[in-house]
Amino acid sequence: MRVGVMTGGGDCPGLNAVIRGLVRKVERGYGGEVVGFLDGWRGVIEDDTVALTIDSCRGILPRGGTILGTSRTTPHRTEGGIAAARDTLARHGVDGLVVIGGEGTLSSALDLYRLDPVGFPVVGVPKTIDNDISCTEMTFGFQTAVEIATDAIDRLHTTAESHDRVMVVEVMGRHVGHIATWAGIAGGATMTLVPEHPFDIDAVCEALRRRHERGKWASIVVVAEGAVPVPGTLQIPEPTRDEFGHMRLGGIGSIVAQEIEARTGFETRVTVLGHVQRGGTPSAYDRVIATWFGVAAAELAHDGAFGQMVALQNGEVGRVAIADAVAELKTVGPRLWSVASEFFA
Ligand code: F6P
Repeated sequence: MRVGVMTGGGDCPGLNAVIRGLVRKVERGYGGEVVGFLDGWRGVIEDDTVALTIDSCRGILPRGGTILGTSRTTPHRTEGGIAAARDTLARHGVDGLVVIGGEGTLSSALDLYRLDPVGFPVVGVPKTIDNDISCTEMTFGFQTAVEIATDAIDRLHTTAESHDRVMVVEVMGRHVGHIATWAGIAGGATMTLVPEHPFDIDAVCEALRRRHERGKWASIVVVAEGAVPVPGTLQIPEPTRDEFGHMRLGGIGSIVAQEIEARTGFETRVTVLGHVQRGGTPSAYDRVIATWFGVAAAELAHDGAFGQMVALQNGEVGRVAIADAVAELKTVGPRLWSVASEFFA
């Protein structure tokens, strides 16, 4: 049994734990071998590989990032990419290719799996700090990002209180507000703005004024980078896009901070956490889930369960169709959002 593995899209704490878990199960459990493809699909297209063994994976469990490197290249977007990727897999005798990625990488894996007459033998592993992939209760990396954001909010509380300031904290979350909602609840935010619920800046300022009238002078406003105002209430610049068409976000926190200060007169500062949330060592929880996903991905490859993805459901790691997982993004559920809203000013 020969299994290929690649990591695509943005990096995420826990990627190395998945790789280590996969290698362990393939080598020790099935007596097989694992070939690593470098920089996501680029390594598959260009046949850029590294042999992965239990020995070569020693020490990577707590390391952030990915030892394989990553990119947003896909075979479909690369001229001759599909044929080249197919040749590479055949040359290495790869029986199954484990694709560790977010919605974009998994969607391209699904397209390749569906190719007629012979699809690629792909197995998916959901990865993103945004936790926005459907059919899995959790993606690894998310808990680590929430811890980092919560720690930042805790620190901002004390400086906010010392200066009687409003602190706006911008966190990641391109299309969904899971990080913002969890960190907002954990950090005791006065207000949290998420993409799922467009905000009215007048209502935000009014709530802050009410809070300050009650004698509370320091407030924390958590803003997901993908948060948007109610149409027609506030002008924000069109986001630019990268070469793969992904929105480049970041900046809504500064706009919200400026508006709060201008409209209320409360001194306001902004902190943009950015890629700090994605870097560094994974939390213990993320290491466990990532390791479990890696071992389960080896089992899927062994069973020939192609077109399937490992997923956390009811506290157990099982398997779901990649097609179902990428059909729509997982947004913040109404019950958790109502918990967060209970504490808004
Ligand atoms: O999808 C995960 C994510 O962290 C988003 O929250 C963020 O918008 C994006 O990646 C940024 O990615 P990059 O800067 O690598 O393009």
